[in-house]
Amino acid sequence: MSQNVLITGTGRPYALGFNLVRRYLEHGDRVFASIRRPSEALEELKKSYPDMLSVITMDISSTESVNATAQEVAAMVPCMDLIINNAVTASADILKELPDFDLDQVAPVINVGAVGPLRVLKAFLPLLKNSAIGALVVNISSEAGSIGRCYRTCYIDYGMEKAALNMATMTMHNYFKDDPNLNIICVHPGWIRTNPGNSEAPLDPYEHAETLRTLFESRRHDKEGPVFITYTGEPYPW
Ligand SMILES: NC(=O)c1ccc[n+]([C@@H]2O[C@H](COP(=O)([O-])OP(=O)(O)OC[C@H]3O[C@@H](n4cnc5c(N)ncnc54)[C@H](OP(=O)(O)O)[C@@H]3O)[C@@H](O)[C@H]2O)c1
Repeated sequence: MSQNVLITGTGRPYALGFNLVRRYLEHGDRVFASIRRPSEALEELKKSYPDMLSVITMDISSTESVNATAQEVAAMVPCMDLIINNAVTASADILKELPDFDLDQVAPVINVGAVGPLRVLKAFLPLLKNSAIGALVVNISSEAGSIGRCYRTCYIDYGMEKAALNMATMTMHNYFKDDPNLNIICVHPGWIRTNPGNSEAPLDPYEHAETLRTLFESRRHDKEGPVFITYTGEPYPW
């Protein structure tokens, strides 16, 4: 059965968001792909899926932008069955340690990567509640957000952003615990070749997007299982 899917941060053809869009479209789903700026790759993809792909502009750092987009989508479909909060940012200082790190960059990063997914969830909640198949929200996290496994002395902004996203996920999981129609998880997606800087990463974004799609579907109604999982489905330490 076809579902309505919203994926954030989808404009870069080599990155995870775009490849998740491709996989859900190939699976026959109706996809709302959110971007901040025009994406030639998505425009090209839309030629193959003119009725199934809607490219929408949404800056998840802005409540106004997210709320406006939710209204725009609500005018097109009555429900949302899956939201994948994939968009992320990091500062230019990500590889620096404390003495060299401009700490004023941390709050804007957290505003995108941790508050942004909550903004999206809040704005799209009426549509999620209308899902006939049971809605799922997937927050794309990272091993870098695990406090228990933290070994780095850098990644200050990114690690804090993902740890905060994990906390947001667990808090929302508690909030929705008695709602059989809504589940939320966060996932460490693995190390993926999503940019030229990580060409040594083992996972191909297009191939891996299908692994993740299958994993997400297996967790839609699993409210008793682990909330923070890795791409193999195993629990990951908070
Ligand atoms: N790649 C890996 O190995 C790896 C490992 C662990 C976790 N992850 C996680 O997996 C997800 C995808 O990773 P990736 O490497 O594919 O990411 P990416 O290439 O950095 O893409 C992130 C996307 O988020 C968008 N974005 C940034 N700020 C935004 C905002 N304020 N509003 C809306 N969109 C915004 C960017 O838009 P623009 O194109 O306009 O800048 C970009 O398209 C991320 O959550 C990442 O943390 C990745």
